[in-house]
Amino acid sequence: PTITFTSQNGESTTIDDAEGDLMSLAVKHGVQGIEGDCGGVCSCGTCHVQVDPAWIDKTGPATDEEREVLDFEQSATANSRLCCQIEMSPELDGLVVRVVRS
Ligand code: FES
Repeated sequence: PTITFTSQNGESTTIDDAEGDLMSLAVKHGVQGIEGDCGGVCSCGTCHVQVDPAWIDKTGPATDEEREVLDFEQSATANSRLCCQIEMSPELDGLVVRVVRS
């Protein structure tokens, strides 16, 4: 499956044959603004993304655990997720998420 990360400045990174969680994919491919400081255990907020509205039904909204962290993120919206908590899957082929931090 393919995933695209877009950033505030209009840059985008598309990763083909994506596997695993989105935070690890972003870090591995040098996507700006995704740090993954906590290593993917849903506690740091440095993997905050906003899921493209067309995709939120497929990824699902943030879990309660993610919300506890997102509450500290100023720019969190209804489509916000911590992308370490999203696993790539065939159903998510073509997914687009926006990186919130820069
Ligand atoms: Fe820390 Fe996702 S990497 S919350």
